[in-house]
Amino acid sequence: MSDFYALLGVSKSSSQSEIKKAYRQRARRLHPDTNRNDPDARRKFQELLDAYRVLADPVSRSEYDAFLAADSVSGGELVPYEHVNSERSQRSRRLLEVDGVTVRFGGIVALDGLSFGIDRGQICGLIGPNGAGKTTMFNVVSRIYEPTEGRVTYDGTDLLAVPSHGIARLGIARTFQNLALFPTMSVLENVMVGAHSQGRVGFVRSILRLGAARENRETRNWAGDLLNQLGLGSIAFRPAMGLPFGTLKRLEIARALAARPRFLLMDEPAAGLTHSEVDELGDTVVDIRRQFDLTVLLVEHHMSMVMKISDHVVAMEFGRKIAEGTPHEVQNDPHVISAYLGVES
Ligand SMILES: Nc1ncnc2c1ncn2[C@@H]1O[C@H](COP(=O)(O)OP(=O)(O)OP(=O)(O)O)[C@@H](O)[C@H]1O
Ligand SMILES: [Mg+2]
Repeated sequence: MSDFYALLGVSKSSSQSEIKKAYRQRARRLHPDTNRNDPDARRKFQELLDAYRVLADPVSRSEYDAFLAADSVSGGELVPYEHVNSERSQRSRRLLEVDGVTVRFGGIVALDGLSFGIDRGQICGLIGPNGAGKTTMFNVVSRIYEPTEGRVTYDGTDLLAVPSHGIARLGIARTFQNLALFPTMSVLENVMVGAHSQGRVGFVRSILRLGAARENRETRNWAGDLLNQLGLGSIAFRPAMGLPFGTLKRLEIARALAARPRFLLMDEPAAGLTHSEVDELGDTVVDIRRQFDLTVLLVEHHMSMVMKISDHVVAMEFGRKIAEGTPHEVQNDPHVISAYLGVES
């Protein structure tokens, strides 16, 4: 995280009015309108504004001071991202193999012998009309639903033998459609919660700051970096409560990434977003895939987003796979076309 005090040219002991004055002077000088020839003008101004927003608010400022105090590694150097199991990832191209999976709920067959695979580094889109079984598939991989038949292999491991609390350790993380955030905690703390599914120290202990200072400091740095990368740095110290829905969705992604996953499952991340937010989210997913070397399973109704960012698409209807291939192939598949026309009419 940038040093907000340095950005505003003030010291840690500066008063609120000194901060305000420093901001006014710099804002005038750095305003994009007065720096039309500087291609970075907008970014620099945004940074200044972020710094001001945090330091001008006494509560945010005191949290920021605590953040700096916990952070001996200067203003937050970028922690190099390393995979939990990097040596294993050399093994084979396939990361996930779903083989003949059937899930029944009483008389309903939600998944009916479904098979497909995801290669490492792919964004795999899972599409299908309502009730097709997408969320059920998602919940099988995150070990919430137990299939009655079939196998799921993840990086050479029999995933169905792993309990649901064991999947984080395998590098699997998920985002929740109905946001799994703590409303009264700050944005930063919410991300730190995500990191603690990996941490050795219990979350409650660390929040209470009973020791574990080192891990806590690293976690804070890491969480701060993630927030910057997702464009949430300026609101790190605000409570999650009351933030716009699109922002909470990004926070939800940051929370999932905090556990340093290799495989990220997203169930309808674009649901409820505006058109431009959907576009931005698509770009974000592509960015984080590259930056964190992720494989992504994306369940999504927003067809344009799925088709734009997926490497591979699996289409389902009534619990079965009806098509699989590149976005172009799946989009033009007659079964897919009729499945969608069938439900829309
Ligand atoms: N916990 C459950 N108990 C009973 N039936 C369920 C359960 N979960 C899903 N189903 C049924 O399984 C089928 C597949 O549902 P699922 O939620 O996986 O579909 P989906 O493709 O995610 O749909 P949507 O696009 O509406 O989210 C549906 O008929 C649904 O009613
Ligand atoms: Mg669903």
